Amino acid sequence: MNKVTVIKIGGSTLGNHDTTLDDIVDLQRRGKPVVVVHGGGKIITDWLNKLGVPSRFEKGERVTDQPTLEVVTAVLAGLVNKDIVSSLNSRGGWAVGIAGVDGSLIEGKIGEPAKGFVGVVTKVNAEVLNALMTAGLVPVIAPVGLNGNRQDGMPLTLNFNADIIAGDIAAAVNADKLIFLTDVAGILDNSKQLISRLNMTQAKELIESGVASGGMIPKVQACLRALSATVCTCIVDGRQPHALVQTIEGHYPGTIITR
Ligand SMILES: Nc1ncnc2c1ncn2[C@@H]1O[C@H](COP(=O)(O)OP(=O)(O)OP(=O)(O)O)[C@@H](O)[C@H]1O
Ligand SMILES: [Mg+2]
Repeated sequence: MNKVTVIKIGGSTLGNHDTTLDDIVDLQRRGKPVVVVHGGGKIITDWLNKLGVPSRFEKGERVTDQPTLEVVTAVLAGLVNKDIVSSLNSRGGWAVGIAGVDGSLIEGKIGEPAKGFVGVVTKVNAEVLNALMTAGLVPVIAPVGLNGNRQDGMPLTLNFNADIIAGDIAAAVNADKLIFLTDVAGILDNSKQLISRLNMTQAKELIESGVASGGMIPKVQACLRALSATVCTCIVDGRQPHALVQTIEGHYPGTIITR
């Protein structure tokens, strides 16, 4: 099998008519194995509001109590995942939606207790992805994984950060590229100028200095994690037409992080 590309699609793509889903179908037609990981923060917040469950954040991550976990699972593994899969398949693609619990793909444990049922990855079982890709399918992954270290009264599933999952999956499948499509031009410096290229040390410094903050932190962390096995990671502007295909072809509309 050709080397795999792992793509994380974020809020900018979900619900918008950008070209990312067309590009994924295009890559599949060209025989390029692709794994898609998605988030869905804004839609989860909308549904929590509709259902009267308050949203709370701790260091940029959603605090996940039992009612929140139920909504997160329903929205991510249900609505968002099926929306992406039906959009891909109605464009002529051939995709299957799974959550991290399917095939025991993602196993984890509770991380910081203050964040509630938010998982830290302990194991990635990539067999299910290899089986789907060997059959020619594009796996589309919702970041709801197994609680592998469960004590009495604890849920069976945990909410994971989609960026982090994408990094762990890229490492587990020895991906040639890990691509984050997001709603900014890439990683910006203090003067809001695009940083086009970083090595691992420079990327770590951006987190330490606070230049990369909020939703950018887990992306940079995931790139650093994936670079143990992956050649090239990048954070690109998903609002640019055909940003994904351009990235695959080596023209990065954003920031590239390499070893
Ligand atoms: N140095 C930086 N350069 C660029 N963006 C940054 C930087 N530091 C923080 N950010 C923030 O990171 C955001 C991107 O992460 P965010 O989590 O919002 O999007 P996403 O992960 O693509 O979508 P979702 O979380 O809905 O899946 C940008 O919109 C910006 O506000
Ligand atoms: Mg995010």
